[in-house]
Amino acid sequence: MKASAPVLLVKESPAAAAELAAERFCAIVSERALASENVNVALCGGTTPGELYRRLAALPLSDRMPWDKLQFFFGDERDVPQDHVENNYRLTRKTLLDHVPIPVHHVHPMPADSRDLAAAAEQYENLIRRLVPPRESGDDTPCFDLVLLGMGGEGHTASLFPDTPALSERRRLVVSQYVPVIGRNRMTFTFPLINAARYVMFFVTGSDKAPAIAAVLSDDRQLKTHYPASRVQPTRGELIFVLDATAARNVIQK
Ligand code: 6PG
Repeated sequence: MKASAPVLLVKESPAAAAELAAERFCAIVSERALASENVNVALCGGTTPGELYRRLAALPLSDRMPWDKLQFFFGDERDVPQDHVENNYRLTRKTLLDHVPIPVHHVHPMPADSRDLAAAAEQYENLIRRLVPPRESGDDTPCFDLVLLGMGGEGHTASLFPDTPALSERRRLVVSQYVPVIGRNRMTFTFPLINAARYVMFFVTGSDKAPAIAAVLSDDRQLKTHYPASRVQPTRGELIFVLDATAARNVIQK
């Protein structure tokens, strides 16, 4: 089945892009809350999403969010403790989770500082398989209502970095891997899990991301192969890019 064309939303400033991304986030989870008891969302880390999370925790959006139905997972995590400044779960706690009435047992941090990362990744995959149902029809891959993603300047997303084994993983849904370019271990969703989602939203700002964004949104199949984010192609879901003008500056409007 051919993936549908991505939805491209561009705002002049990072702040305006964060506002739009937060509004889209809220609209998607609110729509899904009408259809389901649980709304399963995978959050991303890095620095960019902080502004988005702060807006979700503030009025008016926080009053519109279905906090009692939301289940938050993490699309990737660094190999540091949960209170470490580089930990993605810590970022979401500081900017969102500590400020909203989401039930504490609805938040599922990734145990990426475990001594046995491979076993921890398998446990997290099993948790997802237990809590996140597949689509009514199709294969048995857990179907997230929304996967939020960022993008690195070289086109990585989640912790799917160029030239790493996880890029070619077709069976496992969550893996751990050593990433040579950063010299660290990471835990990450794989493309089969990301691409099974109902909605996948990239939120990317900054001129340093412009080449990767242009490549990922281009029709140049050869060029795209160098950018892992280009493999995010939801099989039946909607792909959305929310960008600021600097990240979108090299995109050729079709
Ligand atoms: C992480 C993220 C990663 C992030 C990009 C962009 O753990 O780092 O999940 O995929 O989205 O690295 O990071 P910035 O938002 O900091 O540019």
